[in-house]
Amino acid sequence: MPNGASATRYSPVAQLLHWVIAALIVTQFALAWTADDLPLGVHKLALLARHKSFGMTVLMLAVVRLLWRWRNPPPELPAGMKPIERRLAKATHVAFYFLLFAMPLTGWMMSSAKNYSVSWFGLFTWPNLISQSDGAFIFLRGTHEVLSDALFAIAVLHILAALKHHFWNKDDVFVRMLPFTKSEKRP
Ligand code: HEM
Ligand code: HEM
Repeated sequence: MPNGASATRYSPVAQLLHWVIAALIVTQFALAWTADDLPLGVHKLALLARHKSFGMTVLMLAVVRLLWRWRNPPPELPAGMKPIERRLAKATHVAFYFLLFAMPLTGWMMSSAKNYSVSWFGLFTWPNLISQSDGAFIFLRGTHEVLSDALFAIAVLHILAALKHHFWNKDDVFVRMLPFTKSEKRP
């Protein structure tokens, strides 16, 4: 298998992308929730600017991740998994990939609808995706929030599933996504 991937483990690049994106998602929630509690002012706007920059980073990394996955297919799920578990795992992963694009894109469009600029850490400014519209802003803000609730719920399910694989099923599904480990346990 190319690039360090094997039939039973994720490649180091796939692992790196997984954990960097996961950390960014946690950061995104922390920034948005902290900003939510603040009155409108410099501090709130600074947190939201950070949120936008990290969010656009997620979008860029999501493109890289999908391209990488296309060239380096993930390992098969363990043979012992029930069909319903396989379908649930696949559906969760598809939903994640959808949200890794939908969250940044709705955020970006929301900002465009208000004509608020989206800068990337002050280095450059992304162009507006749509023209100014209060109706579109309200709709996109609502969509961004509903999608973030869905992302949160799926992440909880995903983490519980990873822990169940490790501690209950005692298979290698968790370990094969961890860098610097070896997969030895197979069901
Ligand atoms: C993976 C990427 C992202 C995640 C997980 C995420 C998540 C969130 C969450 C949880 C909220 C709080 C929602 C609420 O309960 O009110 C929020 C708000 C917000 N997000 Fe994002 N976001 C992402 C990307 C972006 C991007 C790329 C932008 C803009 C370019 C953006 C702009 C905003 C703005 C302006 C708000 C505040 C909305 C308001 O209450 O007025 N987000 N985001
Ligand atoms: C909220 C952030 C996270 C996102 C967006 C996310 C997303 C994903 C996606 C899309 C995959 C499928 C990879 C592929 O086949 O291309 C995956 C796999 C995996 N994730 Fe996460 N993940 C997150 C957080 C976590 C956390 C916190 C854990 C650990 C507790 C975890 C453990 C795993 C494991 C073990 C796999 C491998 C599953 C398998 O082998 O089929 N993830 N994740």
